[in-house]
Amino acid sequence: MSDIEKRMNELIDIINNASYEYYVLDNPTITDQEYDDYYTELQRIEKKYPELKRDDSPTHRVGGKAISRFEKVRHETPMLSFDDIFNEEEIESFDERIKKTVSSPTYTLEPKMDGLSGSLLYKNGVLVRAATRGDGVIGEDITINAKTIKSIPLKLTKPIDIEVRGEIYMSFKAFEDANKKNEEQGKNLFANPRNAAAGSVRQLDSKITAQRNLDYMAYFIPNPKDYGIKTQSESIKFLKELGFKTNYDLNGFAHNSKEIDGYIRSLQEKRKDLPFPIDGVVLKVDSLEDEDKLGYTSRVPRWGIAYKFPAVEVLTTLNDIKFTVGRTGKITPNAIFSPVHVDGSLVSKATLHNEDYCLEKDVRIGDVISIRKAGDVIPEVVEVKLERRKDNSIPFKMIENCPICGSKLVKKDAMHFCTNNNCDSRKIEGLIHFASRDTMNIEGLGERIVEDFYNMGFIKDAADIFDLKKHKEDLIELEGFGNKSIDNLLEAIENSKKNSLEKVLFALGIRHVGKKTAKILAKKYKIIDNIIRVSKEELTEVDDIGDIIADSLTEYFADSKNIQLIEKLKEHGVNFEYLSDETDNKLEGQTFVLTGALEKYTRDELTNILESKGAKVTSSVTKKTSGVIVGDKPGSKYDKAISLGIKIYNENDIDSIIN
Ligand code: IVH
Repeated sequence: MSDIEKRMNELIDIINNASYEYYVLDNPTITDQEYDDYYTELQRIEKKYPELKRDDSPTHRVGGKAISRFEKVRHETPMLSFDDIFNEEEIESFDERIKKTVSSPTYTLEPKMDGLSGSLLYKNGVLVRAATRGDGVIGEDITINAKTIKSIPLKLTKPIDIEVRGEIYMSFKAFEDANKKNEEQGKNLFANPRNAAAGSVRQLDSKITAQRNLDYMAYFIPNPKDYGIKTQSESIKFLKELGFKTNYDLNGFAHNSKEIDGYIRSLQEKRKDLPFPIDGVVLKVDSLEDEDKLGYTSRVPRWGIAYKFPAVEVLTTLNDIKFTVGRTGKITPNAIFSPVHVDGSLVSKATLHNEDYCLEKDVRIGDVISIRKAGDVIPEVVEVKLERRKDNSIPFKMIENCPICGSKLVKKDAMHFCTNNNCDSRKIEGLIHFASRDTMNIEGLGERIVEDFYNMGFIKDAADIFDLKKHKEDLIELEGFGNKSIDNLLEAIENSKKNSLEKVLFALGIRHVGKKTAKILAKKYKIIDNIIRVSKEELTEVDDIGDIIADSLTEYFADSKNIQLIEKLKEHGVNFEYLSDETDNKLEGQTFVLTGALEKYTRDELTNILESKGAKVTSSVTKKTSGVIVGDKPGSKYDKAISLGIKIYNENDIDSIIN
């Protein structure tokens, strides 16, 4: 073997192992910088010697060429699923039925992952094929897409041939990120993490799949006996040893329906703290010998069953449909209903997305509707109870004019837009965006205050924010403001002038230019004038920048009003230069876990704060956790932290942690 090949093999091992530690164990041992260096070195070698590129190279993780359709594949053993059951009686009958064949079974109980099942085929320990279930016999080849899923090992710890089955899913965090991005780009939102996972894995362009941060939980080996395995729980252990993410720690055992009910209850308790969606519990007879005795019906295994959690659905009355205008001018109809508790939180509105959605659901003011929390996060209108509809109800009709400025709406695809750049609502939304955490990060300039200041005439455009100090005396007079809070606000405004270019670039609210694009542009062009000057053609040559973004940028900078705004911001001393990547890394190497409902921050915000200081935020408490930040009604993570003697903080301690 040549030295080049040796080095290549070494690099592949280091990088794959680093991914395993990061994405499966949630416990990285090398820094991002080291990882990037190894990765770049490997990329360079592969570019020079493409014939040496290996199937398990981590460079496949970014996706490959887009394809025109998925190839069909036949599963060697059919990919079955279980029958569903929904209540305790059905659990009892299942137990009774099993006990007719196996006198004292042990059941292994596993969270039922809420994604889509995927089969992975390894030859000699290397991933060679991934497939969706399809109809159970014929599925689709999604190998290139599966390689982008970081928790799927490209190479196992043993050089064996094996088929592995598990769930491709999206964590709540990845789901939120994907929807945030959809929103920024004016696209429709995913209704829940399962739809998001299914949509992402079936992308013909695997580069898109790669951006969606999918995950994989392994839970089944079709031919376990080939590896000397005697029980389903041993299969899980074996999968874990091979390098897969499993629910090893969450799985449990039971011997009768009472113990099964107990497990279900305790899992339901933990559910709200899990970072991924589950929709029930899968019950399996543990012993493979017993499984053989029980066998299969023509459709499903007799040795297992899927218990589904009851969907939390609540009835309420639709009182109004209110239209809001986003900063891009997009009009969203919102259901306003009598407040109801769903899964622990009080909700009173839900998005109705667009005209088509309203017409399809046939929502009408006065209807009784059922509300559910999709993916346990965003409230969603499930359906209208037509049998309870009043005779005089009026069908939904999309508005034709902007509810704020009255200008005629323009329809693009399924969405309606207010195209008046001077629309007050668009301006307010734009200003809220300008000041928000991911953009200029002006603490104290939240939604309500921006709206008030706008309506009182203190700020009409982003540059006026930097003139607020002139109105200090007027502001102190306002209700709810004191000297101190005004001083803090003015200080936050002054500080925001020092932000690096990508922040202000994102803050400008250029269509399709989100956080990531802003960063790419800032890094490449260093100062705003370079970005203003660059041609559309040159922009499209930049990685990750396509026609849509390039068009949007050139259009934005061609408008003299926008250039004037930038000039005004510059006059106020706002920085438009890129200030390198160096961050304050006070919390480097520390790991935090959040549990319970937080008040001052959203989970995302607190995660961002900690991560910006170099800390990691993970979902499970281990001996290595540096601290657990506890909100209201904490879950089992709190108990675990106590038992391991991990430091407990509350939200008010954040400043002391950081400093
Ligand atoms: S075992 C023969 N284990 O739920 C069945 N499935 O009906 C082999 N699922 O379609 C699957 N979590 O997609 C198994 N821990 C788990 C699971 C699980 C989720 C999905 C799977 C299957 C359905 C069960």
